Amino acid sequence: MANKKKVVAPTAHWTGAKPPKLKPDQIPNHVAVVMDGNGRWAKERGMPRTAGHEAGEASLLDMVHGAIEIGVKELSAYAFSTENWRRSPDEVKFLMGFNREVMRSRRDEMNDLGVRIRWVGREQKLWSSVLSELREAEELTKSNKVLTLNMCVNYGGRAEIVDAITSISKAIKSKKIKPESITEKNFAKYLYSPQMSDVDLFLRSSGEQRTSNFLMWQSAYAEMVFLDVLWPDADRRTLWNAIEIYAERERRFGKA
Ligand code: IPE
Ligand code: IPE
Ligand code: MG
Repeated sequence: MANKKKVVAPTAHWTGAKPPKLKPDQIPNHVAVVMDGNGRWAKERGMPRTAGHEAGEASLLDMVHGAIEIGVKELSAYAFSTENWRRSPDEVKFLMGFNREVMRSRRDEMNDLGVRIRWVGREQKLWSSVLSELREAEELTKSNKVLTLNMCVNYGGRAEIVDAITSISKAIKSKKIKPESITEKNFAKYLYSPQMSDVDLFLRSSGEQRTSNFLMWQSAYAEMVFLDVLWPDADRRTLWNAIEIYAERERRFGKA
């Protein structure tokens, strides 16, 4: 018999906080998180912006544990946008190296928790050393089923839609598909991660109320929650708080 991998339970929050008691249909299946406010957090402390990014690592890790505890099945983390290349060369360099190191040092912990890591983004411009760490993490965690963690590195919603259209155009040109056969459903097959489900809850930290080009197609009917906490101060309780707000919302999807 093949060795069945033992899944490690998430650790409790250090305060002993427990997830709110909600009905299963009040729990979002897919949560998208814009991890924003690292620079401001560092500035408030007279530290370099990079210190804010470093402090944000623990927030994501804690949120993964909390997502598992409450029963979220998919979590998408916006780690680097296609627009973030506009930052200073030093910050870009730091963020690339940082993403690479986080993947390298955290993939075993994620694997033990039964987390499946997937990279979602554009290959062009992304450092190959970052991509290879992401691929390594994907390979290691590919049969995990507890939670899917989409690491969105060099991701942009418009880039994703444009790249999908390029692939579709090629498929039409080579007569693999007919223009008339394109539907919303099969269009999604050409996105970076065809397996990704629609976003139920879109959460952004830092108080900024915009999507900044994150998961545009997938968030068409997401519930938006903007919280006034800087990312390094966020943890699983921030996620649970957003889920409690989500649970109060009435989702109509166009119906009366
Ligand atoms: C989010 O924090 C991290 C990334 C965009 C990579 P910021 O770096 O945007 O922090 P603020 O928004 O300047 O405070
Ligand atoms: C969005 O945050 C991107 C990530 C969190 C990776 P930004 O800080 O880049 O977004 P804007 O510039 O405020 O819209
Ligand atoms: Mg920001």
